[in-house]
Amino acid sequence: MKKCSAIILAAGEGKRMKSKHSKVSHKICGKPMVQYVVNSVKGAMIDDVAVVVGHRAEEVKGCIKGDVTFVLQEKQAGTGHAVMCCEQFLEGKKGTTLVLYGDTPLISKDTIKDLVAFHNENNFSSTVLTANFKDPAGYGRIVRDTSGNIQRIIEDKDATEKEREIKEINSGIYCFDTEELIDALKQLHNDNSQGEYYLTDTLGIIKRKGLKVGAFLVKDSDEVVGINSRIQLADVAGMIRAATVRKLMADGVTIIDPGAVYIDADVSVGMDTIIYPGTVIEGHTKIGEDCIIGPGARIVDSIIRDGVEINHSVVLQSEVKSNTHVGPFAYIRPESVIGENVKIGDFVEVKKSSVGSYTKVSHLTYIGDSEVGENVNFGCGTITVNYDGKKKNKTIIGDNAFIGCNTNLIAPVKVNDDSYIAAGSTITDEVPEGSLAIARERQTVKEGWVKKKNLERRKK
Ligand code: UD1
Ligand code: CA
Repeated sequence: MKKCSAIILAAGEGKRMKSKHSKVSHKICGKPMVQYVVNSVKGAMIDDVAVVVGHRAEEVKGCIKGDVTFVLQEKQAGTGHAVMCCEQFLEGKKGTTLVLYGDTPLISKDTIKDLVAFHNENNFSSTVLTANFKDPAGYGRIVRDTSGNIQRIIEDKDATEKEREIKEINSGIYCFDTEELIDALKQLHNDNSQGEYYLTDTLGIIKRKGLKVGAFLVKDSDEVVGINSRIQLADVAGMIRAATVRKLMADGVTIIDPGAVYIDADVSVGMDTIIYPGTVIEGHTKIGEDCIIGPGARIVDSIIRDGVEINHSVVLQSEVKSNTHVGPFAYIRPESVIGENVKIGDFVEVKKSSVGSYTKVSHLTYIGDSEVGENVNFGCGTITVNYDGKKKNKTIIGDNAFIGCNTNLIAPVKVNDDSYIAAGSTITDEVPEGSLAIARERQTVKEGWVKKKNLERRKK
């Protein structure tokens, strides 16, 4: 097979997005738009990849994962000009160059493979991937001659009324014979409605040179939908989301209402887990088997082991181990590790803490910067007082400790194994193993005080 390199154009501003950010850096289901294109190219076994950056170049570079060569297009003078900037990248290369746009994220690796194979098998000097769109507005149109051969591409803005009626559009994905591409780029000019160097004009140039130009019709036209606006961004996100939930269901996950959950593209979920409506699962979250997630859960970049229930709660960048119950209305903040068979109940917040297995934190509790052992019981309303106004301090609680209701643990402080704390205590000193700590005022009773003060409140 011929050697194949790829160029992904990602230097444009994306004016129609009306955004402070580069268009291709906008996320779709948790991943920057351009990353989808990079992944599909790499997935098609093309490893020599250049990404052209320009507008907010550093932002775009920062959002791309994987080994690519960045090429700078300082001034965005059109898609043809962007490829011209790759002169050095292309220099001395023979074989095939694939060009794609960073705003066409649904393109699959299989379509890329098919396009490259079609291009090579037919010995075309250039092949464009096309689609038939019911509404082709905004796209370049494929102009064919009377015998059906592709002649050139005309941009929507430069097209005549008649040409605008053409339904076959340019996807912006092409294969070129590398040497012919370099040659054609030299002949581009910018006398069009936008004053830009159009990459699309290279096809007409190659054709006029008497070389073979091909068109390859994509099987699923959804794959080549381009994103120019927020509306198209949402449309494409909807398509990716639908595909993600279909794949999860095919793999054995029950999703009660597939239209009522938002699951990012890189999330994995184990078999027999049930996902209730109103659930948002983001980033690189991994969920195990036999879990019950939702209703109303938000889980971001977390690891949820098997048999966990998360109901009306938020879990961020944390791990929840097997058979643990979270919620309703709990908030697990980043860098927390919750053990197995734990109960994190209502209005409990855990931040940057570890909680050992079989521990119960049933209600109204704040655990911050703490290490909590196994089989600890937190009474309602326990607070680790981790902040002294200057810095955060640590609370350590041993195994089997019993923390009475409404306890303040003034950090740094340690509560040793098998100890008890009386309800209402404010603990400032270490609690030794096996002891009871009481840190509260003794109760005083003043007999007959109400009558004496004439403060009776009974109805007259
Ligand atoms: C382009 C095509 C059009 C096609 C459509 C498919 C051209 C002239 N037109 O139009 O035929 O139907 O895509 O979606 O190619 N870019 C740069 N540098 C630039 C200009 C653009 O890197 O100077 C990048 C953008 O970041 C973007 C891509 O090229 O990722 C396409 O640019 P865009 O302005 O969106 O082109 P369209 O008008 O959609
Ligand atoms: Ca576009």
